[in-house]
Amino acid sequence: MRKTLTLITSFLLVINAFAQKTTKVEVDATKPLVTIQPTMYGIFFEDINFAADGGLYAELIKNRSFEFEYPWMAWKHLPEAETRFSIQNELTIYNNSKGNPNNPRVVRVDKRDEKKELGLQNEGFDGIGIKKGEKYDFSALARLNKGSISLLVEIINSKNQVIGSTTVNLLGSNWQRIEGVITATETDPNCKVNVFFKGAGQLDIDMISLFPQDTWKGRKGGLRKDLVQLLADLKPGFVRFPGGCIVEGRTLAERYQWKKTVGKIENRQQIVNRWNMEFKHRPTPDYYQTFGLGFYEYFLMCDDIGATPLPILSCGLACQFNSSEMQPLEDLDPFVQDALDLIEFANGGTDTKWGALRAEMGHPAPFNLQMLGVGNEQWGEEYFERYSIISKAVHAKYPNIKLVSGTGPSSDGELFEQAEKTLPKLNAQIVDEHYYKEPKWFRDNATRYDNYDRNRYKIFAGEYAAQSNGVATPDNKNNWECALSEAAFMTGLERNADVVYMTSYAPLFAHVNRWQWTPDLIWFDNLTSFGTANYYVQKLYANNAGTKTISIKSNGENLTGKNGLYGASSIDEKTNEVIIKLINTSSETHTIDLNINGLAAKANVKVISMLEKDIKNFNTITEPNKIVPVESAISIAQGKANLVLEPYSFKVFRIKK
Ligand code: AHR
Repeated sequence: MRKTLTLITSFLLVINAFAQKTTKVEVDATKPLVTIQPTMYGIFFEDINFAADGGLYAELIKNRSFEFEYPWMAWKHLPEAETRFSIQNELTIYNNSKGNPNNPRVVRVDKRDEKKELGLQNEGFDGIGIKKGEKYDFSALARLNKGSISLLVEIINSKNQVIGSTTVNLLGSNWQRIEGVITATETDPNCKVNVFFKGAGQLDIDMISLFPQDTWKGRKGGLRKDLVQLLADLKPGFVRFPGGCIVEGRTLAERYQWKKTVGKIENRQQIVNRWNMEFKHRPTPDYYQTFGLGFYEYFLMCDDIGATPLPILSCGLACQFNSSEMQPLEDLDPFVQDALDLIEFANGGTDTKWGALRAEMGHPAPFNLQMLGVGNEQWGEEYFERYSIISKAVHAKYPNIKLVSGTGPSSDGELFEQAEKTLPKLNAQIVDEHYYKEPKWFRDNATRYDNYDRNRYKIFAGEYAAQSNGVATPDNKNNWECALSEAAFMTGLERNADVVYMTSYAPLFAHVNRWQWTPDLIWFDNLTSFGTANYYVQKLYANNAGTKTISIKSNGENLTGKNGLYGASSIDEKTNEVIIKLINTSSETHTIDLNINGLAAKANVKVISMLEKDIKNFNTITEPNKIVPVESAISIAQGKANLVLEPYSFKVFRIKK
């Protein structure tokens, strides 16, 4: 039996040896070609798939301010009653619009019987993820109108057992912030929070909140640490926010208005999330935007992770897939002013109106905004007219701000061609192209930018992702075929870094139970998160970009897919390294007979490899490390080496010059 196995193994080895192909590859490290912008590899953030509330924004209470269309959504009255008759108006919604017009609804608690149990229970976002030993900050805004009432706040696990509690007292009839800390005694991804009212009297309560203390940089009311860490690990050149179609809104009223997302969180006026009912296959009627993660927090995160901020603003045109509602051209002033004021908010002195607000929020130093997007996936004359008005006004006041404009939803076809013709006439500077296509398209389009006009605008490959089954269909997977095809395509982005200034995969985040759109770069549940194979491809590019491209050729030609081989190469002038990226999208092993011109002595090579034989395989929340980069080391002499590229592999080589 053993002998038979040995025979079979040797036979397979022989076949494999025959299947290997040898390709000569020449890299010229002596002639730097074009500069790779520091912004080249970045992040596209949009509040889709519960990326903000219920995701990056670490708030654990859903509908904390009772402003969802149905105010009791996500809340249960305690004790649980068959009908609302049985609680005799002890828990009602009181409209306090004079007190806070942006956040008018509060809960009025009329507790007449001291002995009776009365409380509220919040279900969180598909449950509440709690970790043993960690501390949680409870807070609320409240006023005691009469009597004496205190709060007993409990975290209960999925078996309805209390795993942490705190008592919070309430004094006086003025609105006050009440706070308590709960230490959890258990880990459970599916907890709930009970707030019991003890004593008798009347109180009003709003903004009922629970945050982990262990947030990104330990900020109170901050962001989920594991998710920001995944972003920081990418070392992104920029962060585009807040989207996506969410910028446009289904209607103009639902567009993203940055001014409503800054200042005190209780004054930020929340709206429905446009992705709540967009897809019949994934309705999420409880998807709203509290804007606890607002423009200040986005800027701060960019600052934290060293990324250039790229905010995108509405151009006065609601999503053209939805209503196409248009702001009349003669009434575009508020949109123009939003853009001018945003620049002041980010960069203005603390003696300016909006700069002062930034300082008041905690950041007197400017955020160094250099780029601004006008409109997302818009098309046609209606877009160009609006873009033109806004861009002229911005450049009249801020000539150094670079503007990003769009080419519509597709990177080809009539609308795209119209944009390509029109945008140069409008002096467009950076133009956003989107491609959600099948994996083969990515492999076939590594040459897309080789022949782009060098004398017009620069390209922002702003949204792309290979779709395994069909654009935005719910069966799409972040499989290795998609990730590898993106890696192949990206060789063309990097080779053309004189035209392509920025690139980002989209969408960024998805909650494993509450997503609307797939594929996505990073998935998470209530406690954990993981990077997809696509994430690691992005990471390898962003962490190994280099500063200037150099040529990498086989028989005098770029590596753009012949025999499934792709390549890009650069030098990093800061670390004095040559960086080579090689991709084998074929099912055969390739041997690369490498010759690097400009490397004389012996050199150590760091090799980072991603390979997976089953191209339909993908990482999951329970098996997050199926497809991840693995590091090894080799050495080469006189710039010559024989490299092995296994079937379906992506390798990065970093060679000290
Ligand atoms: O990334 C998801 C959506 O795809 C974006 O919101 C939009 O710009 C594109 O259509």
